[in-house]
Order: sequence, then C-alpha cells, then structure tokens
Amino acid sequence: MSDKYTTQSFLNAKRNSRKITMLTAYDYSTAQILDESGIDAILVGDSLAMTIQGKDSTLEVTIDEMLYHCRCVAKGIKNAMLVGDMPFLTYHVNAEEAVRNAGRFIQEGKVTAVKLEGGTSMAATVKAIVRAQIPVMGHIGLTPQSVNMFGGFKVQGKEEHAAKALIEDAVALEGAGAFAIVLECVPEMLAKLISEKVSIPTIGIGAGKYCDGQILVVHDVLGLYSGFTPKFVKQYANLREPMTEAVVAYIREVRSVQFPATQHTFAISDDILERLY
Ligand code: KIV
Repeated sequence: MSDKYTTQSFLNAKRNSRKITMLTAYDYSTAQILDESGIDAILVGDSLAMTIQGKDSTLEVTIDEMLYHCRCVAKGIKNAMLVGDMPFLTYHVNAEEAVRNAGRFIQEGKVTAVKLEGGTSMAATVKAIVRAQIPVMGHIGLTPQSVNMFGGFKVQGKEEHAAKALIEDAVALEGAGAFAIVLECVPEMLAKLISEKVSIPTIGIGAGKYCDGQILVVHDVLGLYSGFTPKFVKQYANLREPMTEAVVAYIREVRSVQFPATQHTFAISDDILERLY
C-alpha cells in the first residue's frame, strides 16, 4: 500500500482523531528533510515573499515565482502531500481566472492541491476550482493577503459578530467542497467550536490545540527568519547560530589558508607538471 498522503488521508485523520502535521517549505533540500521526517503535508506558502524574498508582506509574490518554488519542493517529496498557495490577485478577479491559475499549480507546480484565503466571499470560487477536480484548502481568520484591510496582523474573531462570521466562513468553505481549512490567529475556544462544526479538518496556526492539525512556517520553527516572530510560533531550533558559526569558520580558514586542505584537492603527476613550466 502507498504511504502517499492524500486529501482522503486528511479526512481519515480527522475521523480517527489523528493530528495532521504540516510545515511550509520552499526548496528541494528542505522538502526532502521534512518528507523524510514523516510530515503529512507541505505548503509552499506565499510566506516565501517574506522568508525567501525579504519583502514586508505576502502581497508582491507572483504566480510564476510560486510555481518555481512548488516545482523545487515537489522534487524533494516522496510521501507528503504538496499544497500550493495561490498568491494575491490570482483568484480574486473571477472564477474562470481562478480555475486557470489553480490549474497552473497542478500542471506546472506539480502540487496536489491549492490553498486560497477567504471564506463566504470565496465560496463560489472554491466551488469552481473543485468542479475542475482541483482540491482546495481554505484559509480564514488572519488572512495575510488582507493585511491592508485588517490594518495589521491581528487576532481575528474576538468579537461576537466576527466570531459568528468566521463560523459561517468555515461552513461555507465546507459546503463549497474544500477538503481542509487553515485557521490562522483565532482564539483557541473559537477554533475548537469551528473544528466541531465542520466535518473537514481544521489546520491551526495560532489557533490552539483543538484544531485537527497544525502548520507553521519552517523558517520560524528552525530559527532561520530574522524578522518578526508571532507569539504562536514555537522555535524548535536556532539554526542561525550554527550557520553563522560555520560561515565565520569558513571565512577564517580561507583567509589563513587552512582551507582547502590536501584532502579537498586533486593531484597531477610531478612529470607532467614539470613539463608545463
Ligand atoms: O503562506 C503561508 O506560509 C501560510 C501558512 C502559514 C498558513 O499561509
């Protein structure tokens, strides 16, 4: 039997109360490490605008840039399911354009599913993409592509009307055929309620332990990103330190001619060398 994680595995995990594990990745080597470690699914998130491209928000990354990173990650995966994040303005104009762009993620990005931000207002678009046989992961709560509407990166759903709207969003996404929903930065007990209300799995990021799975940005988990780190992040390693130490040692050894040493070099016979002088 194949160990490949699928959209059906997401649904089975929820039914069997098995937590779903997700991380982002943007390149071949990282994807390989996550896959070999047994991660269930990998998201090529538009967060790469910040972690890879050094931008202040996710708004500027293009579909061609996203597809390039999806292809890199796809090469490193054997079992994990690959999800591609549809960037800003690639699914907002109309459903036809959204389906075409989602199709590009499948054909050119080699992903199994796409993720897009928005709830009730995106339900018709999700329906159209699913009708084209492309699995969709929803994303509600703090949706970073709406940062300018939110007026910053803030916890969502704290007021009664906002909490009700988020519940409606989740139900609308389920009704539209989404196979899972990312809940970002919402109160833990609201995320619990939403997770109980829908039959598809919820994947939390800053949404507490009752979600059916969790996702984090891999650069946050490994301590590679120097920018702002939200409260919900747990840093499992601080790889900036050993990486910096390694680079400093390399610079020192090159300057002091300790590197390259004999074992890093190739020989030529003395006879040949003599004739070359
Ligand atoms: O872009 C991203 O990485 C995301 C996840 C953090 C959910 O949307």
